[in-house]
Amino acid sequence: MTHRVTLRPSGHDFDNAPDESLLDSALAHGLAVDYGCSNGNCGKCRARRVQGEVRRLRHSDFGFSAADAAAGWFLMCCHAAASDLELDTGVARDHLDIERQDIEVKVKRVTPLDGQWTDVHVQTPRTRRLRFLAGQWATLSRDGQRVDLPIASCPCDDRNLHFHVAAGSDDARLFEPGATVALSGPLGEFVLDAHSARPRLMIGAGAGLAPLASIIEHSQSLDETIPVSLLLIEDAGRTHYLENQLRSWRDALDTFDYIRAPREQLADAVRRLPGDTAAADADWYVAGPDWLVESASGMLSGLGVSPDAARRRAV
Ligand code: FES
Repeated sequence: MTHRVTLRPSGHDFDNAPDESLLDSALAHGLAVDYGCSNGNCGKCRARRVQGEVRRLRHSDFGFSAADAAAGWFLMCCHAAASDLELDTGVARDHLDIERQDIEVKVKRVTPLDGQWTDVHVQTPRTRRLRFLAGQWATLSRDGQRVDLPIASCPCDDRNLHFHVAAGSDDARLFEPGATVALSGPLGEFVLDAHSARPRLMIGAGAGLAPLASIIEHSQSLDETIPVSLLLIEDAGRTHYLENQLRSWRDALDTFDYIRAPREQLADAVRRLPGDTAAADADWYVAGPDWLVESASGMLSGLGVSPDAARRRAV
């Protein structure tokens, strides 16, 4: 039987299916709870039972003191809910709450997105998954070559990570299918503010769509009805490599929409993007080439958007 779980003090809640660990359920719902090994060794996923009962799913070598166990502390990766639950555990609010991790990952697949870009899918070991926030980056290196790339996938699947790499580039040589690559991260302050209930408005171009795709997917994994709108700035005569993905999200999701505009119409499109929302009442995310970040920043400030409400990242 599925049980409802509420986290304190954040107030986030999610469903826990039978035989799914509380950690896996929280992550699948896009909640950035703390964890490390996922198998009962490190103790990082500890939570305190405030109300309700838990059921052990697997053995753990991590030991709580008798006093902690009596106070209700347990490991979320080793337990499922046995009733509706209230738990005391923190949820990361920003990049400072997540420590840097070093993980050996395997290149599972390299898929062309169009003639110029490829999607690189890497997978972590089952017991060393990457904890990160939507919008963050990672350093990937192999044989003395290294590159910093935005993670283009959702933190709700922390084992299967995607990156967008220019086809035929030096960076692409790093990602031969089957190769082992050293990953270090996450990096960067350009992250989804999952604690804000304001509409999310995005402006992206080129490879800036990679971190924005992560944020869009993460927004959808949270059980929310917050609208997300994207302005996609396209090069003249070229369809963006993520256009099909954006269209399928728009068809499938009630809360996501996007508009397209050429670079020359940026100012007009930025004014149109908020629709019925006042620009200053939304959270803005801007990612793309330097010229886009600079131009959009000036335009947003002209629309009364405070610097705190406009997250920007050059890609
Ligand atoms: S994540 Fe390491 S003990 Fe649960």
